[in-house]
Amino acid sequence: MDRTKSLSLAALAALSVGGFASCDALALPRDPYLQKVGPDTATVAFRLSANCSNALVRYGAGNTSQTARSTAAAKIHAVVLTGLSPATSYTYSVDGCGETTPAKTFSTAPVPGTRRVHFAAVGDFGTGGSDQKKVAASMLTNKPELFVALGDNAYASGTETEFQNNLFTPMAALLSQVPMFATPGNHEYVTNEAQPYLDNLYLPTNNAEGSERYYSFDWGHVHFVSIDSNCAVGLASSSKCTLAAQKAFVEKDLAATTQPWKVVFFHHPSWSSGEHGSQLTMRRQFGPLFEKYGVDLVLTGHDHDYERSKPMLGDAEAGKNEAGIPYLVVGGGGATLRTFATSRPSWSVIRDDAAHGFLDVDVVEGNLTAKLVKTDGGVLDTFTLSKTLPARPEQPQGTLNVAVDSGSGAAPHTASFTATAPQSGATITWDFGDGATAEGPQAQHVFARAGTYTVTATATVQGAAPLTTTTVVTVTASGTTEPGTDPGTGSGSGEDPGTTPSDPDPRPEIPATPTTPGVTPGDGNDSNGGGGCAAGPSAALIPAAAALVAGLVRRRRRDR
Ligand SMILES: [Fe+2]
Repeated sequence: MDRTKSLSLAALAALSVGGFASCDALALPRDPYLQKVGPDTATVAFRLSANCSNALVRYGAGNTSQTARSTAAAKIHAVVLTGLSPATSYTYSVDGCGETTPAKTFSTAPVPGTRRVHFAAVGDFGTGGSDQKKVAASMLTNKPELFVALGDNAYASGTETEFQNNLFTPMAALLSQVPMFATPGNHEYVTNEAQPYLDNLYLPTNNAEGSERYYSFDWGHVHFVSIDSNCAVGLASSSKCTLAAQKAFVEKDLAATTQPWKVVFFHHPSWSSGEHGSQLTMRRQFGPLFEKYGVDLVLTGHDHDYERSKPMLGDAEAGKNEAGIPYLVVGGGGATLRTFATSRPSWSVIRDDAAHGFLDVDVVEGNLTAKLVKTDGGVLDTFTLSKTLPARPEQPQGTLNVAVDSGSGAAPHTASFTATAPQSGATITWDFGDGATAEGPQAQHVFARAGTYTVTATATVQGAAPLTTTTVVTVTASGTTEPGTDPGTGSGSGEDPGTTPSDPDPRPEIPATPTTPGVTPGDGNDSNGGGGCAAGPSAALIPAAAALVAGLVRRRRRDR
């Protein structure tokens, strides 16, 4: 169908039923945002202004000839696209009960092991203000393959409304084209131990608890690990996550990865001379693991500045012949910058408290080159890490096919899988997406809890790069039939309000302008008010509808 015509008809229909008469009807309309993008899968999440039982995503490589339907009959949707090709540009749009979004593009992840990766990272951005928007626009201009978000994604308390107004609205263009992999900040933990963060984002769950609070994933030849530092420093109740469980996950995960580059990210910095300073629990609990397993780079936020350490080992600079890890604070994503109160310590290579910006990172073969890109386009810092990589493994030919018996059901749900590899003698391993693994061409697994699980099969032959394929298993809560919402994290109802942590900062991290609930923090330039009425696909329909009406009026005048 002609898109312009579809849009106009939808707008007219909305007008005819009084859809624009009251913004109250638009609860949380939200542009699509990309989550859990992999070599052959992507999740397109979006929110509609009313319940919708036949929402769908149109997509394809160079066109939108394929469709994937949402299984939800609600306002909140997360459609998992499967069977995609690696390192391929896809076009997509969302149709949701009369609301149609403009076509956007994104790229799938390359085949694991591919030796070219481009990513961006920054934290402390979720204000809804002008500096955040400038950083996001600058990042989108560079068009990284993925965006690593370092926490404090939605000031001041990580509420549902703040996620809409301070993350999804100001960063809509970026998030619809570049997949975001996040870690939670302390401000997200102010509200119900980060439950709105978990409700709004769709993140990997490859840990023993099936939790989105911490996870890992591969993108090309880089292995990324996200740690929930709030949990590690005691802001989470033990029912949510524990330091011990995270350390066990990190150790097992780093020991298992075969990717040559390892990047770890979390919110509270192990090394910082900013206002909050170094977080010694993070340094001393996780630093030894990073050193043991050869982590190359650690990215954090929390302090609203930029700082890069020398290669560090334990509590000191690494010696000349010792391997050390550079620790970065990249906290200039949009919140008010904070002046350094002390002189630069000897371990700090460079620091800045005057420029907002993001870290742009290219990892090509054995060279990682990073630069801090300011919003004026200037580069504040550049550095390169180098290592010798093993000989490039032979690229496998063919496709790893996976068949699923019973891909959906109510918890506890048992699913069976069969993998057929193109190479004889391949070893097949399984990651069920909830922390459990198995080996062999056939596997069976019980998914204990409701959720949408990305199951990854990997075929390995000695001397060749692995082949991977993913498939999705959807598990509903026992006695329910709505699998479209994100799993495993609950709705937040039933939480003990008494466990909500207070802000651990010496003083709250105040956005550029004070936030009023339901009102976008003002930078003086925002045209959008509270409630998301002027953003998202529904808002996009307003000018189209107005233009349509104006055209009809003009035509009637001409006809007179
Ligand atoms: Fe913070």
